[in-house]
Amino acid sequence: MGYNFYLCEKFRNEKIRNMRNPFKYGTIVEDEFFTDRQQELQEIVRTMNSENHLILISPRRFGKSSLVMKAMKQIRRPYLIVNLQQVVSTQDLATKLLKEVFKIYKWEHLKHLIRRFRVVPTISTNPMTDSIDVAFQPVVDTRVILEDVLALLSHVSTPERQLIVVLDEFQEVMALEKGLDKQLRAIIQSQQNLNYIFLGSQESMMEEIFERKKSPFYHFGKLMRLAKIPREEFYDYIMQRLPAQQEDVATDILQFTSCHPYYTQQLASQVWELMTYENVKEQVVEVAIERLTQAHDLDFERMWMNFNRTDKRVMQMLGKGQLPLQQSGLPTSTLFSSTKRLMKTGYIIRAAAYDIEDPFFKRWIQQNNK
Ligand SMILES: Nc1ncnc2c1ncn2[C@@H]1O[C@H](COP(=O)(O)OP(=O)(O)OP(=O)(O)O)[C@@H](O)[C@H]1O
Ligand SMILES: [Mg+2]
Repeated sequence: MGYNFYLCEKFRNEKIRNMRNPFKYGTIVEDEFFTDRQQELQEIVRTMNSENHLILISPRRFGKSSLVMKAMKQIRRPYLIVNLQQVVSTQDLATKLLKEVFKIYKWEHLKHLIRRFRVVPTISTNPMTDSIDVAFQPVVDTRVILEDVLALLSHVSTPERQLIVVLDEFQEVMALEKGLDKQLRAIIQSQQNLNYIFLGSQESMMEEIFERKKSPFYHFGKLMRLAKIPREEFYDYIMQRLPAQQEDVATDILQFTSCHPYYTQQLASQVWELMTYENVKEQVVEVAIERLTQAHDLDFERMWMNFNRTDKRVMQMLGKGQLPLQQSGLPTSTLFSSTKRLMKTGYIIRAAAYDIEDPFFKRWIQQNNK
């Protein structure tokens, strides 16, 4: 009996040790961690198989990068990605683009093209990382550098293996240099053999760039808005991965996260851990929510302290589900600027109605009677 029990425990512990959490959040997801998005995937592939560009907008952490990466794998053409959030100037944008080019094409193929640059960069190999470093001398007119690098992109791209250029967090272009959007559009427009994908998570700014008639990028490509993952798909995804088939667990997870891709994976991952390692059986979703909310207590406190009075009021109302906000008694203009600010900083999102983006922060606001 004792020996059998020992064996059982040993077997259980061994099994647990070899188990891997089937939920993933925070980084790009692929393969078995990626669900659904069939239609969106097809739309991206089709657009890339045309002479058009793609604009993909969604709030933060809805799965833009994962979706684009999956599409790139399917398309099997050369692509490069630059995140504008990590770019500090026009010259830096050119430098980062050129560095990416070096990852795809051989030096032999590039050197005669780079010799033609009006400002010739210093290229060095880094033996530690086995990568190529690029540096331009500081110049007054940085635009010629960008022009030359963009021209290089279309030179290296061929009709059979047309290059795809992905510019992530593209709305940041507006903060880099005045008039840069105009210059970029003028160059990109004249390029024949490239596809561009513009990604952005600040919806209002992306709309300003691509939907406002006077903007240089007005209706520049196919506009796609990424929604949350459909409930049925996400439900099946969770059910297939939970250690025990409990329908109410999957339902409760999705109820709490409203199918937000990132928060759903985060919560499901915590639930899986509790079920697997701690054998929690009762109220497991509630326990997981509590753990995650507590884990972020300090962050939430800091975020709260940084809100002004109106923002706090709006967040409180949303926390209590008091809608419409117009009934807050706040002057319309104050309310408008507050929701605009909170949307821009990503604290609230608007799907059917305004809501707090992070369900754990929402819970924290409710719990602390903020
Ligand atoms: N198709 C998917 N299936 C399952 N989970 C997904 C999917 N897409 C995204 N997620 C979840 O959302 C998280 C964020 O995805 P991703 O980084 O691709 O989003 P993003 O919109 O690019 O985010 P950011 O705004 O931070 O750049 C992933 O780590 C994953 O947990
Ligand atoms: Mg991303």
